[in-house]
Amino acid sequence: MLKIKNINKNFGRLEVLKGISFEIKRGESLGLLGESGAGKSTLARIILGLIPKDSGDIFLNGQPVDYSIRDIRKIFQIIFQDPYTSLNPKIKIGEAIGEPILIHKILPKNKIRQKVEELLSLVRLSKEHYNRYPHELSGGERQRVGIARALSVGPSFLILDEPVSSLDLSVQIELLDLLKRLKDELGLTYLLIAHDLAVIKYICDRVIVIEKGEIVEDDKVDKVLTSPSDAYTKKLIEAGLG
Ligand SMILES: Nc1ncnc2c1ncn2[C@@H]1O[C@H](COP(=O)(O)OP(=O)(O)O)[C@@H](O)[C@H]1O
Ligand SMILES: [Mg+2]
Repeated sequence: MLKIKNINKNFGRLEVLKGISFEIKRGESLGLLGESGAGKSTLARIILGLIPKDSGDIFLNGQPVDYSIRDIRKIFQIIFQDPYTSLNPKIKIGEAIGEPILIHKILPKNKIRQKVEELLSLVRLSKEHYNRYPHELSGGERQRVGIARALSVGPSFLILDEPVSSLDLSVQIELLDLLKRLKDELGLTYLLIAHDLAVIKYICDRVIVIEKGEIVEDDKVDKVLTSPSDAYTKKLIEAGLG
């Protein structure tokens, strides 16, 4: 579905991504593991078209991705680590979830409320949450709102950038269960970014490991856990980061 070929990106003199190449099949969940500062979020932003790459190619279903089309957001969506920063504190969450539907003219105005209620139920929130403000939700509930909002436009590909890193362990597991269920129910393709291999293992079969902007491993999660081929990956796993 998605093919990334030889992506390079510098910020000034800092080489953040160095020749990144990998592929994701439709319906696959690929993990992206790496320490803080490895370049994971930069890669996510480039795939989403939020920042330009210096060189390299991105193909979707065999065609170079055209980031100038508005509909790109109906294909690629992102879920961030902290939905609080991406939710407007003055906007009720029901309206926040409905906003992309309105912007992309996916449904007529009078049909949006019902769609938002369906999305709330899809992420296991109640209709009663519609009228709440972001500060009236727990961290886990806010992340569910972020997921509902991302799903509102019917994307086929989700980038999850450390989606559970800011949550308590029990809430992390709830969220990972939800993400797994949504992927199966909706036939989604995931790129799941994490600095913890246990999080990736929960959802993904395959993982790529990125060290200082370079891919050092690309294999089955089980294989990487038991016999990582790369010294850096070993270090991540031993340090408990994996
Ligand atoms: N807009 C930017 N301008 C300058 N440097 C940046 C910018 N965004 C990220 N960086 C730098 O690029 C490196 C990789 O960052 P990032 O992709 O956010 O890493 P990760 O998500 O793996 O923690 C870091 O050294 C970071 O400071
Ligand atoms: Mg990051």
